[in-house]
Amino acid sequence: MAISRLGDNMAFEYINKNGDRKPKIKPNIENLSNFKKDFNWEEVFEEIPWLPGGGLNNAYVCIDSHVDSGNGNNVAMIWNGKNDEEETYTFNDLKVHTDKFANVLKELGVCKGDRVFVFMDRLPECYISVFGGLKIGAIVGPLFSAFGPDPVKDRMVDSEAKILVTQPELRKKIEGIIPDLPDLEKIIVVNKNNRTDDPLVDDDLSYEDLMSSTIPIESIENTSQYDYSIMHYTSGTTGKPKGALHRHQSIVQQYATGKWALDFQKDDIYWCTADPGWVTGTSYGMFAPWSSGITQIIYEGGFSASKWYSVIEKYNVNVWYTAPTAIRMLMKAGEAPIKKNDLSSLRFIASVGEPLNPEAVVWGNENYGMPIHDNWWQTETGAIMCANLSSMQIRPGSMGLPIPGIELAILDKDLKRLPPNEPGILAVKPGWPSQFFAYWKNDERYNSRFKRGWYITGDEAFMDEDGYFWFQGRSDDVINTAGHLVSPFEVESALIEHKAVAEAGVIGIPDKLAMEVVKAFVSLNNGFEWSKELRLELMKFSRGKLSSAVAPRDIDYVEIMPKTRSGKIMRRLLKARELGLPEGDTSTLEDD
Ligand code: PRX
Repeated sequence: MAISRLGDNMAFEYINKNGDRKPKIKPNIENLSNFKKDFNWEEVFEEIPWLPGGGLNNAYVCIDSHVDSGNGNNVAMIWNGKNDEEETYTFNDLKVHTDKFANVLKELGVCKGDRVFVFMDRLPECYISVFGGLKIGAIVGPLFSAFGPDPVKDRMVDSEAKILVTQPELRKKIEGIIPDLPDLEKIIVVNKNNRTDDPLVDDDLSYEDLMSSTIPIESIENTSQYDYSIMHYTSGTTGKPKGALHRHQSIVQQYATGKWALDFQKDDIYWCTADPGWVTGTSYGMFAPWSSGITQIIYEGGFSASKWYSVIEKYNVNVWYTAPTAIRMLMKAGEAPIKKNDLSSLRFIASVGEPLNPEAVVWGNENYGMPIHDNWWQTETGAIMCANLSSMQIRPGSMGLPIPGIELAILDKDLKRLPPNEPGILAVKPGWPSQFFAYWKNDERYNSRFKRGWYITGDEAFMDEDGYFWFQGRSDDVINTAGHLVSPFEVESALIEHKAVAEAGVIGIPDKLAMEVVKAFVSLNNGFEWSKELRLELMKFSRGKLSSAVAPRDIDYVEIMPKTRSGKIMRRLLKARELGLPEGDTSTLEDD
């Protein structure tokens, strides 16, 4: 197989169901010519000479490399369970566990390129499963444990996942969809600390039994920088979420940005509050810190201001990476819980996922004695792209400057560069090391993100005279609620499965804490009438299918769903009406 160079894939390759790279069936000629015109890929992307034997595996970099260099006794992870259990894992320990789990997968017939999904709370076994999967060359798909059955089904069906690693309560939650997963071969169940009495159902396999009866894998699968590693489903405006696929080489940028944007230093204790079901929880809750060999705190529980501060105090956290919604909740909790804890170990705080309001930066200064460093990136970018670096003066409210080597631009609708201070499309010059490689089996969508030699982010921003970028909003209908992107289509699809619902339109409405919350509008089938009871029933129905993180916070009735003449629901109009804003151009509105 010819080795592709970084970036070629955009024009030439797709991935078949076995995970092999194949020529694209329908190359996007327009994009192709643009790429060729703007870039000389051969010149830009030389083979990276320093990779041992040309090979690269994230699990080797994050775990085995520390063992090989004599640092295996350093602590990699301290886990604080929700029942206040505590477990400490050195890099040596992680090597043993992940070598064994890789062998478990091998014995189950998992091959390079197979999809292994991990649907688990923040348990040590979640991390072991991910890295064990990477060691065997699998494409690992971590799933947010708060998801309901529908999002799990959509992702596992689309990716044709072969193995699911989960825990008893989550297995139970998605019981109904298991028969709908035709490619699923085995379910491995982790019964952490025997929390569940009777953990196994049907043909499920016990993680603990498998691990106690296996031996460490002989060697890590022969992967290169071009092989696939992690897959995260992310929301778009149309259709169900898409599987953004990353390659092992992403770690180059994750490692560098861990140092530049998160200020990682030797012997640091680091806490990333993000869940591994989202990209921050893998890129910066696994790859960046462990490629740097620092210690991570994994806290299983959810948000609580006093508990969070006590975690910082107890473990002497130096670097803390969190999100604006959490910071706003901490601001709401006020000074009292801060005063009860000694937070003097903190040296650096950063935030991502949503706009960080300038007041939060200032509040950090006043209450933690240091500012909060905002940075910007996406599932597709794989690593931080723009940041208030540790070395520079913060501009409160700004996402900072592009990371060295990254070119960002603000474009007008003809994709021409705009001068400073003019808002427009935020775009990235393709070819950054952690660039996503594909949307799983969705070349068309993938190609649509690249135009005239730019990757179009879907965000709007402006750049000031000094090159700092300022977020303005999204240019699509995707909803950002508490840092989680929600596809309106996914919520609409769940709602119309209820017998009363004829059509559903879903929008994000502003919220003080979560930035946006999901609101749905439904029209009803004949024979159904809108009532308080029906509203509650629909709320419960959608929560059961989706999870409370994704389901609508509110549902309202519309007699006639506004649609374009081509039948597309006009979410923009629903939103304008809801917020009392001008309705804009309604010329494509369907006649009643
Ligand atoms: O709209 C931007 C917002 O979150 C989107 C990316 O979400 P996701 O792919 O889930 O990745 C989240 C973790 C990196 C962006 O397109 N976003 C991210 N960071 C910021 C932000 N919006 C404003 N300011 C940020 N710092």
